[in-house]
Amino acid sequence: MKRIGILTAGGDTPALNATIHGAVVRANQLKVEIVGLIKGFNCLFNPRVPHVHLNPLFQEIPELDPTKGGTLIGSSRDYVDPDNKNDLDLVESRLKKLGIEGLICIGGDGTLNGLQPLAERLPAVLAPKTIDNDLGLNYPSEPDEWVRVNDAAAKRGYRYKQVPATETFDLDHIVNYATPGYTTAVYVSAGGVERIRTTAESHRRIAIIEVMGRHSGYIALGTAYGQPDIILIPEHPLDLEHLVHRVKHIYDLQKNVVIVCGEGIVDEQGRELGAETKSTDPSGNVVLSGAADALRNKLVQMIGDRYFQLYRRGESAKEAIFTRKVGHTQRGGRPILFDRFYAGLLGARAVDLLLEGRNNAVSVLQYSTDKGFHVEGYDANRFRDRWGLIHARKLHPALYDAKLMKPSRLGIDYLLPIFTDAIGNDDAEHMRSTLFDPGNLAQPYHSMNTDVHKRIRYLETEAA
Ligand code: F6P
Repeated sequence: MKRIGILTAGGDTPALNATIHGAVVRANQLKVEIVGLIKGFNCLFNPRVPHVHLNPLFQEIPELDPTKGGTLIGSSRDYVDPDNKNDLDLVESRLKKLGIEGLICIGGDGTLNGLQPLAERLPAVLAPKTIDNDLGLNYPSEPDEWVRVNDAAAKRGYRYKQVPATETFDLDHIVNYATPGYTTAVYVSAGGVERIRTTAESHRRIAIIEVMGRHSGYIALGTAYGQPDIILIPEHPLDLEHLVHRVKHIYDLQKNVVIVCGEGIVDEQGRELGAETKSTDPSGNVVLSGAADALRNKLVQMIGDRYFQLYRRGESAKEAIFTRKVGHTQRGGRPILFDRFYAGLLGARAVDLLLEGRNNAVSVLQYSTDKGFHVEGYDANRFRDRWGLIHARKLHPALYDAKLMKPSRLGIDYLLPIFTDAIGNDDAEHMRSTLFDPGNLAQPYHSMNTDVHKRIRYLETEAA
């Protein structure tokens, strides 16, 4: 294999450039060319196929900086429809015209689903990324737990449901323990909690901080490092009575409460609190907005003004309870050491998988109590349920203590190997030396897109 294509798909993460860099460094060693496909699968629907050569003369281009967040080749949420043969034919022929013999997609579960039909056309592998940390399996047999249940309201008349686990859960059996992007997202959200805490303390308020993660509670769980009082995850339906009881108990004691909620939290009927207005993104995912606000309304109603008037002299529940979203800051900026390091290894492993002929494999980050972290290849087919679909991993119930609304003992054991040394000295030094650089005031921001744009080539131009 002499020329590989690489693309980044789905929501960005801080570690994408680090993964691309790892792949390019490995390709340089093996004397393989790497072509970056601009804006994910979107570029393959464009007859001109905008692309950039990432390692001319087997040297990475200087714009490829593993310490920079985002992706220098851009991303989109476009995927190839597996049932659209015409599109698949076009994509295949465009890649062929570019001389691409193998494809690395950097993405999450959506990208891995999108890659399945393509892997029948040309060698293709996935290098994982997602801040949600939901690409993986709690144990290898987890895909077998998915069943189809009839649902007249669903588009196809059925939906997928995971039946309660029978498998013993063991940290050493997790497939893809952590995904590049997750650690930095938690670094940001935990820092956000620390900052909100002191203002909640000073003004005797209850803060509800919403973190990302769509339907997965990993970011919320990791945010425990910021020491919130309560963590609510999407995998565990909200028990409002219990929550109110706990909030009052904590407020009585310390006159402030900090609650972290995942954006996808659900009520006891399984309805998403944040999806009151239903809209979907281009990949069909429900766009969540306002879980924290919906929760605030419920707390305002259930706790009532009188409670706060007693404690805060005259203020209403509405004034006492406030919400903040950590939002897209979780997805952006410089990746911290853990993410950078393993993203690089996973990118490099993806190149090896292609060259070893492991079509449709995924480079995964494995953990074992004895050996620590190591990178492996895992066949994508083993992620698929019996109908061929890949599901987002849910946080295993054993990692969460629903009564305390915090990580369980095992949840703490899960987090420790990832986060204990996740921040490098250079991360702290970088912040110290760059944020208040006087030059920042005088110089305009120089976007990597400006430089990469000058390197973009187009298929038709080449053919002409
Ligand atoms: O999948 C990553 C993610 O950041 C989710 O946590 C979040 O729900 C979603 O993307 C937000 O997507 P967008 O940036 O398109 O609004």
